[in-house]
Amino acid sequence: MGSLHCLILVVLPLLYIVAAAATCSNGTCKLLDECSSDEDCGAGLYCFSCSPEFSGSKCVRSSFTNQFKLINNSLPFNKYGFLTTHNSYSIEGVPSYTGVPRITFINQADNVTQQLNNGVRALMLDTYDFNGDVWLCHSFGGECHDFTAFGPAIDTLKEIETFLLANPSEIVTIILEDYVHVPNGLTKVFTDAGLKKYWFPLSRMPKNGEDWPLVSDMVAKNQRLVVFTSIKSKEESEGIAYQWKYMVENQYGDGGMKSGSCPNRGESPPLNDTSKSLVLVNYFRTVPLNLLSCEDNSENLINMLQTCYGASGNRWANFVAVDYYKKSKGTGSFGAVDTINGKLLCGCDDVHACVPGSTSQACSKR
Ligand SMILES: *[C@@H]1O[C@H](CO)[C@@H](O)[C@H](O)[C@H]1NC(C)=O
Ligand SMILES: *[C@@H]1O[C@H](CO)[C@@H](O)[C@H](O)[C@H]1NC(C)=O
Ligand SMILES: *[C@@H]1O[C@H](CO)[C@@H](O)[C@H](O)[C@H]1NC(C)=O
Ligand SMILES: *[C@@H]1O[C@H](CO)[C@@H](O)[C@H](O)[C@H]1NC(C)=O
Repeated sequence: MGSLHCLILVVLPLLYIVAAAATCSNGTCKLLDECSSDEDCGAGLYCFSCSPEFSGSKCVRSSFTNQFKLINNSLPFNKYGFLTTHNSYSIEGVPSYTGVPRITFINQADNVTQQLNNGVRALMLDTYDFNGDVWLCHSFGGECHDFTAFGPAIDTLKEIETFLLANPSEIVTIILEDYVHVPNGLTKVFTDAGLKKYWFPLSRMPKNGEDWPLVSDMVAKNQRLVVFTSIKSKEESEGIAYQWKYMVENQYGDGGMKSGSCPNRGESPPLNDTSKSLVLVNYFRTVPLNLLSCEDNSENLINMLQTCYGASGNRWANFVAVDYYKKSKGTGSFGAVDTINGKLLCGCDDVHACVPGSTSQACSKR
């Protein structure tokens, strides 16, 4: 073969690839357009490769729709859905604080500040007594070890304080898997982090299935931090709400990922117990698998939310808890929460369809 001919054979396909990749760039790429860097994608999107689902990288969603700004915040707290990260503190690449290499599972890729900035509004944290303090730890047997520890809880709580200070209309919920037994250990760390001033008081939590206070009222009173613990006695001893007195929850881990079934978590009342006003749906694997999370956070998540809606006595989830919240084939966990908010706020399949005058196709009622 002549060398010119050979050159053409090599160069032409290259030109084609360059041309194809350049159909959009520098912020002009839309959802599911091919991209080569985050900068190519428009606002609220990033460049992600959900292999093996699609080859190459595409722009997928990286942030939420603020339902309070898009619609309003004048409804009760339990009439909204919130994106929730499971083990929010178990973040890849975080250096070891103890000096001992960490041997445990990782559930998220972004730090808590990034999670909050991208629209995560509920954080699941595991708290332990460790090194004379309260630590976040991904452990077993109720004890934290050097090799399962992430860091002192105060660091993460201070990130939350910074966010609440900078975002005076936002509400953050913390759901603790709590192994702290030191008396007032949690009270001390929340106080030290400067979070007590945002505390939503136990006395205002509905105890018999009533609606929660209005979000606008929680904001006006600056009661913008809602905290739940898994230790019942802390209601009495520290005024921290016992989660399952106010919330029902499906099974977490693999047991909560079986298509078509939505059993309750052992500690939770049955999902259809409507004397609890809040509903939490977990959708993540027992062993987090980074590669599979993009598949998990897509259609399968929406299907499970629908299944759990039925199991909860026709109630949509308020909290949608996932691993690797930003990984998806397109709209992912953000789209799932848009669906929930659409259903909750106006009975449509997407919160964008609730906007007066919307021409969205996502509403069967129009
Ligand atoms: C990319 O977009 C920004 C803002 O739209 C613009 O200022 C900049 O010049 C663009 N860069 C290139 C290489 O086109
Ligand atoms: C979170 O991550 C961002 C981006 O990498 C970084 O700029 C920021 O300092 C991090 N914040 C904390 C508290 O680790
Ligand atoms: C709640 O669900 C259980 C099955 O989990 C069922 O036996 C019970 O009848 C349901 N209760 C109501 C009030 O629907
Ligand atoms: C807030 O939005 C909801 C849902 O669309 C609507 O029913 C309600 O009337 C709105 N409230 C105000 C004060 O606009």
